[in-house]
Amino acid sequence: MKDIYILAIETSCDETSIAIVKNGSEVVAITILTQMDTHAEFGGVVPEIASRMHTENITMVLEETLNKAGMQVSDVDAIAVTYKPGLLGSLLVGIEFAKVLSYVYNKPLIKVNHLIGHIYANAVNNKLEFPLLALVVSGGHTELVVMKDDYDFELLGSTLDDAIGEAYDKVARILSIPYPGGPGIEKLALEGNPSYDLPKPVLDNTYNFSYSGLKSYIINLVHNETQRGNEIRRADLAASFQVTAVDELSRKVDLALKNTGIKNVIVAGGVSTNKYLRGEIKKVADANDAKLTIPDFIYCTDNAAMIGAAAYPLYLKHDFADYSLNAESSANIC
Ligand code: KG4
Ligand code: ZN
Repeated sequence: MKDIYILAIETSCDETSIAIVKNGSEVVAITILTQMDTHAEFGGVVPEIASRMHTENITMVLEETLNKAGMQVSDVDAIAVTYKPGLLGSLLVGIEFAKVLSYVYNKPLIKVNHLIGHIYANAVNNKLEFPLLALVVSGGHTELVVMKDDYDFELLGSTLDDAIGEAYDKVARILSIPYPGGPGIEKLALEGNPSYDLPKPVLDNTYNFSYSGLKSYIINLVHNETQRGNEIRRADLAASFQVTAVDELSRKVDLALKNTGIKNVIVAGGVSTNKYLRGEIKKVADANDAKLTIPDFIYCTDNAAMIGAAAYPLYLKHDFADYSLNAESSANIC
């Protein structure tokens, strides 16, 4: 069969990324331009600044990717783009750019759900083995999904309130750790012991998650102790939060593996860069004789390679978008 090259574009939040992906698995070239330092000054992503920076940089990111690949747009078979979920203005920059490339070079346009992209990050340099259990842990989502085949999703459970990444970011903020908080909490936690007794979410026999109670408890604890003039053991609190938050994921993954008998687990989304999480989920997978796949660090956070990987099964099905394609801010996997 002829090799298929997909040029993929990701601009849903604060990374401008373009990749060329061969046969849904091999990254021929990728460029990821992060705006993190700019947004860090404001303590979080400023949507207006994000879309403006995407607009300023996207042509350069395309040129750099084509140069690295030694290819031209005319060489690829399709143009893929993230269309949901994300910041509307940011998504629109990528979508309009993709439409122009598709039209000018007469290439089919493929629309990709960003969350599905995170899952397909596991298909980069790898082959997904079905059925599989996917744990999606990002800034906006915490979900357990069963996949029986490509694009065959069954949602087992999701967060009823905050996503785990959001909880990391909010706890980081109260501990004065700069944005993005997740990596900062992970680093600080290494210096501490999980000695704070924190409330565990009580959603025992479901696959759902809840992180707002844990987050609020920590915010109140820090406020109260500060008001009383007591010292907060920041590293211990970061470690305690991380253990409590990840333990909940481990318990639910364990429950799902036991109940479904599935032997393949994948982890997806920005929080999956967390080494503590990776270690704990590995223990659960091993205990259930399941094979664990987690993307390389670079493909855990937002990147266009995962969009190219997720677009490939759609290309094979000729599931193409037309030029009425618009951005959508919110979405689930299924
Ligand atoms: O998947 P992602 O890059 O963007 C979304 O689609 O949301 O995930 C971003 C989230 C943020 O909440 C960030 O704090 C968190 O992932 N994150 C981490 C780590 N690296 C990123 N959380 C915990 N530990 C990390 N090392
Ligand atoms: Zn993401």
